[in-house]
Amino acid sequence: MTDSSNKEVEEKRAARPSSLDISEDEFHAISESVAEIVEKYFARVAELPVFPDTSAEEISEKFPEKLSEDGEPIEKLIEDCRRVIEKSRHNGHPRFWGYVASPSTPIGAYADLIASALNQNVTSWRSAPAATMIEQQVMRWLGSLIGYDENAHGLMTSGGSLANLNALYVAHRVKSSGEVSHKGLWNRSAPMTVYASDQVHFSIPKAADVLGLGRENVRIVSSDERFKLDMRNLREQVERDEREGFIPFCVVANAGTVNTGAVDPLEEIGSFAQERDLWFHVDGAYGALGALAHEKRALFHGIARADSVSLDPHKWLYAPVDCGCLLFRDAARVQGAWTQHAADYIKVYEERDAESFAFWDYGIELSRRFRALKIWLMLRYYGSRKVSGAITDDCCMAQYFAERVEASEDFELLAPVELSICCFRYVPVEFAREFQAANDEERASLNEKLDELNAHIMHTVQRGGLAYLSNATLRARFALRACITNFRTTRADIDSTLEIIREAAREIRKER
Ligand SMILES: Cc1ncc(COP(=O)(O)O)c(C=O)c1O
Repeated sequence: MTDSSNKEVEEKRAARPSSLDISEDEFHAISESVAEIVEKYFARVAELPVFPDTSAEEISEKFPEKLSEDGEPIEKLIEDCRRVIEKSRHNGHPRFWGYVASPSTPIGAYADLIASALNQNVTSWRSAPAATMIEQQVMRWLGSLIGYDENAHGLMTSGGSLANLNALYVAHRVKSSGEVSHKGLWNRSAPMTVYASDQVHFSIPKAADVLGLGRENVRIVSSDERFKLDMRNLREQVERDEREGFIPFCVVANAGTVNTGAVDPLEEIGSFAQERDLWFHVDGAYGALGALAHEKRALFHGIARADSVSLDPHKWLYAPVDCGCLLFRDAARVQGAWTQHAADYIKVYEERDAESFAFWDYGIELSRRFRALKIWLMLRYYGSRKVSGAITDDCCMAQYFAERVEASEDFELLAPVELSICCFRYVPVEFAREFQAANDEERASLNEKLDELNAHIMHTVQRGGLAYLSNATLRARFALRACITNFRTTRADIDSTLEIIREAAREIRKER
């Protein structure tokens, strides 16, 4: 510590002993060691086990249980951060394809650091002028990527679940003119109903539950053999509900289902919603950014007709969690949805439009972190062409995965690859032969055995630390699921994972 820095700290501490300020030297020591951890992590992540070889007990033992009263030295804390890394599961590993989670980038990680240092509370322009305008700009960029025009607007959320909840709330308010529907029968106003395919993410029924719309008022529409919403069934259910006195108010389409990545027929759903005066929400939390892949663009035809779209940069824009987003096609239409909650302390005294802007007019949260910074910096750093290229390549990798599966005797593809998800299962060669000769009952029994074997394989592969797949249930069958939103994945990773799976299967079958 230099003399002047020492003196400054002493003076500050004399004026206020409880101050949490530290000297420049102390600050510098923290910065250097933190930057070193981050740099080393990014450089080494591909060599780390995807999942740590550890247990809950071992992790508890590694970290102090008792909170220090007098503070601990930075060296000790940095050492513990290294242990946290050692005991983590790594999205950034090239063979991590579980769930819908992408690696982050250095620029995204440092953007979060800047956002935390600045600590803007992005409630409104008056609280965070530049951050508010950057978030608005990012909303325009994301909107334009899916074909929205300048009337669109939106806000960043913690993720897709919150975006979907917010969307259903607004849909309900707009379509019910503020009345709460589920007061329902004893209020002589019929329940309002939402429609979504059997592949819908569980955050939609959960949102209906939270909003008091009633889980049972989310009507599940069947999907076709490609896991896309069946239009005929949608129409039948809406018409039946209308006949029976329910009030259909919203249809939710998937732009990339969580299970297989299927994109519902957006254009047709948009026309139907218009015909029936339904709010049209697209859950594109995982897949909407697939529209950046040139070859996939046709799948998204009609998305710009949606009243609202959920789209998560922390899923397929390689942004660090948390970073979701909800876009509205017509901002002016939705603003009123929240106005009944106005309170004196949020009265805005700014008079110019841009300066009186508040995100609380569009969403649930009041305090919000500066999430847009990581998108703003990341998109500008790489440029849209490079980011589109990464998304396109993710789709190509999933396609390659499917080709390898189909070319193998001992794997079976369980769903078409629409975006970047490949669902498949391991089928030992002798099972495949038995299948051919089996009757329905025997097949059901073989399928059960395969479900059990593949579940065991998934767990063994995950805990083995060489690759990470998750699971999906497709038409009641267990599927291994690789969701590739990972710019580090190469064809060689896919080839080696098929070998890793075979090896896990051999081990499991040997033990039986
Ligand atoms: C289609 C879809 N919608 C919503 C969500 C929920 O997003 P989050 O986990 O960010 O809340 C997911 C998560 O995987 C998803 O795939």
